[in-house]
Amino acid sequence: MHHFEFTYHNPTQIHFGRDSFGQLAALIPPAAKLLLLYGGGSIMRNGIYDQVIRALAGRDIVEFGGVEANPTLETLASAVALVRAERRDFILAVGGGSVCDGAKFIAAAALYEGDGWDIVNGKHVVERALPVGVVLTLPATGSESNAGAVVTRAATQEKKVFFAPPTRPRFAILNPQVMDSLPDRQLENGLVDAFVHVCEQYLTYPVGALVQDGYAEAILRALKALGDSFARRREPGWQQNLMWAANQALCGIVGVGVPLDWATHRMAVELTALYGIDHGRTLSIIQPWLLRETIDAKRAKLEQLGRRVFDLADASAEDSIAAIEAFYRGLGMPVHLSDTDVADADAAERVMQALRAHGNAALGGHAGLDDAKTWRIIRAAC
Ligand code: NZQ
Ligand code: ZN
Repeated sequence: MHHFEFTYHNPTQIHFGRDSFGQLAALIPPAAKLLLLYGGGSIMRNGIYDQVIRALAGRDIVEFGGVEANPTLETLASAVALVRAERRDFILAVGGGSVCDGAKFIAAAALYEGDGWDIVNGKHVVERALPVGVVLTLPATGSESNAGAVVTRAATQEKKVFFAPPTRPRFAILNPQVMDSLPDRQLENGLVDAFVHVCEQYLTYPVGALVQDGYAEAILRALKALGDSFARRREPGWQQNLMWAANQALCGIVGVGVPLDWATHRMAVELTALYGIDHGRTLSIIQPWLLRETIDAKRAKLEQLGRRVFDLADASAEDSIAAIEAFYRGLGMPVHLSDTDVADADAAERVMQALRAHGNAALGGHAGLDDAKTWRIIRAAC
């Protein structure tokens, strides 16, 4: 039998709701020297910036804006320099996954004298970091209450994930009203990102994990229902469900003690690094092809997903993959590189080369991904 073995500790305080900005002042020590970190300026246009500043009236705040989607080492290095010059001791991220991830990197890099890329490639193990708090503006990644972050080194087109528990946010403010200004494209991305996060922790092989499977299925069913009712995406009920589902999908609870397979994410990342495709869209391009290639290893869980998430009686694994793909298509997500505006006849070769260079072309895992399987997946998707 499969033994569960894990330590679970998620100390991020979550404050959820329409009045949750009101908690900010109490959550940040009065004497904190804040760095307020944000992205390309959406928070200026939708009023979130004003609400945050009002909630923190009288505080010592220095701002750094311009963290791009898929944050770069280069941009974040400027923020680290500002933190040092202005002696900041608390990082407040106001944004989506990119700003949250950027804040985590800054929090660690500010206390590390060496090259910041050491943190991303694991050469430096992060043992301390400045405290981070989050005001989330885009439900998708779960970054607001997990210990992971993804940073891109633009100079070498490398996009990498690192884990650093000391950077896990102290608190996350989840106010679903922030979603009013989100473009549909970001809602679609968020839904699919969260869906794939659960899949990566569920679509392996059965180990008799009644709680983990049941919880994964609850989140997947919720996301499926939100996709099916996408027409109601501007309603508060819809919004709050996506915000909570996306958080729960990657706060760590679904994957405790069970086999994981992050291969879709490990492959998809190259499509962003090379072509700048939105993270959620890279997942919908890769995952169906990856599932087809690994169908034998994942057959039992695919059948279970078909029955319990898509309500398909006697679902075959093939039916389940078709249902997932149809779900993505129904949301207007690409399921092949040709569904995007990327036009590169050599895309498959280029992606494969990047995967090999980054050590991700033969991930192994329960599906035994080797170079040949990975190549078939990439060639089918591109
Ligand atoms: O930059 P601004 O102007 O704020 O605009 C952003 C950005 O253009 C906009 N936006 C955010 N909130 C908004 C809004 N527009 C209007 N109204 C609002 N309320 O949305 C765009 C995308 O934002 P971004 O933060 O990039 O999106 P997302 O939350 O999807 O984050 C993606 C990043 O997270 C990483 C991805 O790789 C990618 O770099 N991930 C992080 C993970 C983690 N830390 O656990 C896990 C994920 O698998 C993922 O890899
Ligand atoms: Zn993701």
